[in-house]
Amino acid sequence: MSCRVILGAQWGDEGKGKIVDLLSAEADVVARYQGGPNAGHTVVLDGRTFVLHLIPSGILRPGVRCYIGNGVVVDPEALRSERERLVRQEVDVDGRLFVSGSAHLILPDHRVIEQHADSCATTARIGTTGRGIGPAYTDKAGRVGLRVTDLMDPGIRRERVEQLRDRTLRLAGPGAPVEPLSDVLARCERDAEMLRPMMVNVSAEIDAALRSRKRVLLEGAQGTHLDLDHGTYPYVTSSSAVAGGACTGVGIGPTKITEVIGVAKAYATRVGHGPFPSELPPEIAGRLREEGNEYGATTGRPRRCGWFDVVALRHAVRVNGMTQLVITKLDVLDEFEEIEAVTSYQLGGNRLSEMPESLGDLERAKPVTERFKGWKAPTSGARQWEDLPREARRYLDRLEELAGAPIRLVSVGSGRDENVRREATPRETQPIPR
Ligand code: IMP
Repeated sequence: MSCRVILGAQWGDEGKGKIVDLLSAEADVVARYQGGPNAGHTVVLDGRTFVLHLIPSGILRPGVRCYIGNGVVVDPEALRSERERLVRQEVDVDGRLFVSGSAHLILPDHRVIEQHADSCATTARIGTTGRGIGPAYTDKAGRVGLRVTDLMDPGIRRERVEQLRDRTLRLAGPGAPVEPLSDVLARCERDAEMLRPMMVNVSAEIDAALRSRKRVLLEGAQGTHLDLDHGTYPYVTSSSAVAGGACTGVGIGPTKITEVIGVAKAYATRVGHGPFPSELPPEIAGRLREEGNEYGATTGRPRRCGWFDVVALRHAVRVNGMTQLVITKLDVLDEFEEIEAVTSYQLGGNRLSEMPESLGDLERAKPVTERFKGWKAPTSGARQWEDLPREARRYLDRLEELAGAPIRLVSVGSGRDENVRREATPRETQPIPR
């Protein structure tokens, strides 16, 4: 039996899709625990690209059962089109994909609220994905949301949809571009039919899987610094992306978790607004963006780029209780003469080794970096630790040392086999120097 959590250690877009796919080979069950169609997990298999927004990346491994947990907000329209796309790409989905009856729904009105209500003008201020995520989670916390199970009851569904319409018109104004209510209700009826055969009690199913000694993988979306509680608030998403969110997001207790695997890119990116202490000026950022194809999988927006931020990573190691680290996209740095990593922040006369909680302090904090000689050699052919250039190993060793979590896997290309696995080192049993 194992219950691994895999999550983003940075600001999302760490390349989790590929790693979840890889770890799914060692799993019987994969469950998404938070977020919604704001996520974009890209997996490349035999030259074919799959982009998943809501459906767990485990769906690409035949035989793996996939669940969408109660912590996810489900847009039925997005789920339908993603499912159809997978079927067109010859992925077997039927009988393998299940949705929690307690998951909340994103309705078209949530998108209208996000885009047109002044009081929730988060699209512009925060730079949201515009998928209705914030308003759907707001309704959940406000106890007026519509869950998958509620959708099955025509009375409840009508009542909640009508109440939501009242809120939409109040928040976004009487001229808001809403769909006629009758269309929304007809759409809900179709959605109920689609979701009915998929609806299960995810908590009970995962518990049963663990009791029968199955291997469970809990898949996070976004990343630690976009977490509602532990991210760079208010420039965050509206769900719990951290490991604790995995427990509430599928309905299991923390004692069941056996491993927490954090995924971080060999540098850093962020989409949307908000503090990003290691952000680089346009010239170097542009080089990272082009080499790493750093454009959003969901919105196509260019990502902001920066050096690896060890202060931010240490925060992620701590709040997640991370037991191991996966570094992705090392190959993107192959041609850089010099690489830097942020090891502390300077704020006025103080040197900080922790991320400040104050947004103002975080915005004012200046990065202090350590420099590394680039390796100027291709890494995508490496499969063993020793295959990596000496300078690349030195860079990774130092990140590991500063972060306080062992690096067990390094991804050196988008292909399923382009990875370097690293066995546990004696370092793991020794205290990590600070
Ligand atoms: P929302 O999740 O659409 O409300 O967006 C809130 C913030 O999280 C914005 O800065 C988005 O750009 C960011 N965000 C949401 N989902 C992702 C993701 O999957 N990857 C990276 N950033 C994301």
